[in-house]
Amino acid sequence: MSSPLHVAIVGATGAVGVELLKVLSRRGFPVGRLTLLASARSAGKRLEYEGEEVEVRELREDSFAGVDIALFSAGGSISKHYAPLAVQAGAVVVDNSSAFRMDENVPLVVPEINGADVKRNRGIIANPNCTTAITLMGLWPLHRAFGVKRVIAASYQAVSGTGAQAIEELRKQVEALAAGEEPASVVYPHQIAFNVLPHVDAFLETGYTKEEMKMQNEGRRIMHHPAFRASVTCVRVPVYRAHSVAVHAEFEAPVSLERAREVLAKAPGLRLVDNPALNEYPLPLLVAGKDECEIGRLRLDCALDNGIAFWIAGDQLLKGAALNAVQIAELV
Ligand SMILES: NC(=O)c1ccc[n+]([C@@H]2O[C@H](COP(=O)([O-])OP(=O)(O)OC[C@H]3O[C@@H](n4cnc5c(N)ncnc54)[C@H](OP(=O)(O)O)[C@@H]3O)[C@@H](O)[C@H]2O)c1
Repeated sequence: MSSPLHVAIVGATGAVGVELLKVLSRRGFPVGRLTLLASARSAGKRLEYEGEEVEVRELREDSFAGVDIALFSAGGSISKHYAPLAVQAGAVVVDNSSAFRMDENVPLVVPEINGADVKRNRGIIANPNCTTAITLMGLWPLHRAFGVKRVIAASYQAVSGTGAQAIEELRKQVEALAAGEEPASVVYPHQIAFNVLPHVDAFLETGYTKEEMKMQNEGRRIMHHPAFRASVTCVRVPVYRAHSVAVHAEFEAPVSLERAREVLAKAPGLRLVDNPALNEYPLPLLVAGKDECEIGRLRLDCALDNGIAFWIAGDQLLKGAALNAVQIAELV
């Protein structure tokens, strides 16, 4: 790879930020200098990178002097304000928030699908919604083979998708319930332990949530497929890490499971785990911490024309966030 770069992580102390540090190191990204930024609450905290402690600094408007690549994961409002300042200072920004994902001037990229779009960037590149990225890892190879028309899907999303505080909330609720105490809900509107919440992100007038519409809106941009349709129900489940999605996809061309298996087995970043007779199918518990997404439960859909149903699971802190962001930075 190229000469060492000055890399900044905005939101370094968060669930995604911590993973970014690990992924940069694991993939041998050419980090010459590392600037870790977070809120004033974390200023002075120390995080380890390749055996050395790096002090976290408070994010400020002048934090980006000399930075080559800035990886943002501190929420949409922070990205909206600070990403343009980072670009002005000469950095290329890879943004994990939803702030720029629908901006026509900002490429929205899953490297295995539309990596070439990175070239069109004007300083900011957006990382897709985690559930969308994971679903498309399985849908894209099938789309290339058969031409997808629409999907109907339900997600099973881990609490770490909400961030570090939600991980704590699930842990504390499990402990409280085991001790016979009343669990407190702060992050979610209801108890998440031993429950499922059909509610991820804010509700829209249509009755869908913002998260649910991301699959259609972002899927269209990433696959360069403006007619793609997706009806999704997003569900939060008491899983610490890794999202799963049950997908029912309808295609233009007649489908065959043999050809589907063939294209999925060859797809980069994806592993086919599909042996129901041996109880082998993707599980969030087993895919957590892995770079590859896993796909299985492949079958001809009995209710759709040219339909395939599948189950896909992926670590949303990796392919849905940190890994995808670092892959984009590598392309830059
Ligand atoms: N979690 C996922 O699976 C996932 C997947 C894809 C995309 N994303 C996106 O990535 C972003 C971060 O998510 P997360 O899950 O890592 O959240 P998180 O665990 O809550 O972390 C948030 C980070 O942002 C920092 N931050 C908050 N307010 C700030 C401020 N005013 N100035 C500077 N830094 C501030 C926090 O610093 P302090 O520690 O100092 O508060 C922390 O480092 C969000 O936009 C989210 O939508 C998350």
